[in-house]
Amino acid sequence: MPSTQPTYRHTTPLKLHILADVPAVAVATTRHIRARASSAIAISGQFTIALSGGETPKAVFAELIKEHDLNWSKVHVFWGDERCVAYTHPDSNYRLAHDHFLSHVPIPKANIHRVQTELGAKPAAEAYTDELRAHFKLDDHSLPRFDMVLLGMGDDGHTASLFPYTAALQNSQQLVVSNAVAKLGANRITMTYPVLNAAAWVIVHICGQGKSAAVKAVLDSPPQVERLPMQGIRPMHGELVWLVDQAAAAALDGAAGPA
Ligand code: 6PG
Repeated sequence: MPSTQPTYRHTTPLKLHILADVPAVAVATTRHIRARASSAIAISGQFTIALSGGETPKAVFAELIKEHDLNWSKVHVFWGDERCVAYTHPDSNYRLAHDHFLSHVPIPKANIHRVQTELGAKPAAEAYTDELRAHFKLDDHSLPRFDMVLLGMGDDGHTASLFPYTAALQNSQQLVVSNAVAKLGANRITMTYPVLNAAAWVIVHICGQGKSAAVKAVLDSPPQVERLPMQGIRPMHGELVWLVDQAAAAALDGAAGPA
């Protein structure tokens, strides 16, 4: 019996684009980055973007390094979340970006705002909070407004390092926190919902059949953020664009072909 309750996709203004495959999602993501970067740099003299981790960014980075006309000297890169490992560790989101993206474009070192995981989880989260406050010139009560945040989604509906039933989901007081993730047996460092939802643009890129059940659950279930953290991504005054490949969209009713 279909639920009569409003679903996430009907209570959150979002644009859903179903694309053929991973390369198409990467091209579409890069197109959004290029457009927003040009506009932000023209208006404010900089483009601030928070990267996601995991595997999908690799395909995006492969497209992004082709953007030779982008004024990389005006781009400031942050991370929406980071694993509590050394920045040289294979699991590091910084290292993923460094190896596949940042070492291939002329972006000034000072524009790369790495999470200092060497400090330990909590101090690194505090230091990153200070870094956000300094860069965005924030007082203690205001939020950074990223020009763009890139987000992936796990097959459990997590995004950034906002995992189901974890403390960070409830944290609306801090910008960046250390989040204990029991299922990983590890802490993660993550931006909180207020920061992610303050962005001007949130681009969600999701690929692969393994995500299809989570895509269906997030979009077509009534909001249950504790169980499906991606449902907590609702930009307050910004655009939300979902770029999903056909495989990840397979469980959606009437999943049409690529956009
Ligand atoms: C991380 C990410 C995480 C990721 C999802 C999807 O640090 O792992 O930030 O939220 O975006 O797990 O990862 P894939 O792109 O590998 O599907």
